[in-house]
Amino acid sequence: MEKARIAGLVHDCARDLPPDVSRKLVAQWGISLDEIEVAEPKLIHGPLGCEYARRQLGINDPEILNAIRFHATGRVDMSLLEKVIYVADCIEPGRVYRGVANIREAAGRNLDEALIMCQDQKLLFLIKKGAMIHPRAIDARNSTLMHCRVAREALVKGVD
Ligand SMILES: [Fe+2]
Repeated sequence: MEKARIAGLVHDCARDLPPDVSRKLVAQWGISLDEIEVAEPKLIHGPLGCEYARRQLGINDPEILNAIRFHATGRVDMSLLEKVIYVADCIEPGRVYRGVANIREAAGRNLDEALIMCQDQKLLFLIKKGAMIHPRAIDARNSTLMHCRVAREALVKGVD
């Protein structure tokens, strides 16, 4: 719980940095970005936030750092803490999109069920917006479905 508190508090620590500062820190700290991260600058705050938390905030716990790093896309075989932060980010009180109440309710019942709902919601949102989708987000969704019966069942239920 302590790790979740810390990761929850700092996961967006690099989100509101001015773009020129973000670019400078990425170069200065040697953070390697792939072409999708470069093309969709919003994605940079995950990997940059991870380094920012380590270097500027003194956080060295790899679990917390990975939860920060992957909170925007998810990834294959997410840890429990990564799932918790990803889902919490999707359903925090400031979120008002259609269906958020259902996901909040699912989160109280089963984390993987809530996770697949969040992943679907995020992918649909990006498609509607015409934004690029990071392949890691697709892989993350497939991984959730591959490993979790509850997530697959939730998806089938949602389609009906
Ligand atoms: Fe974020």
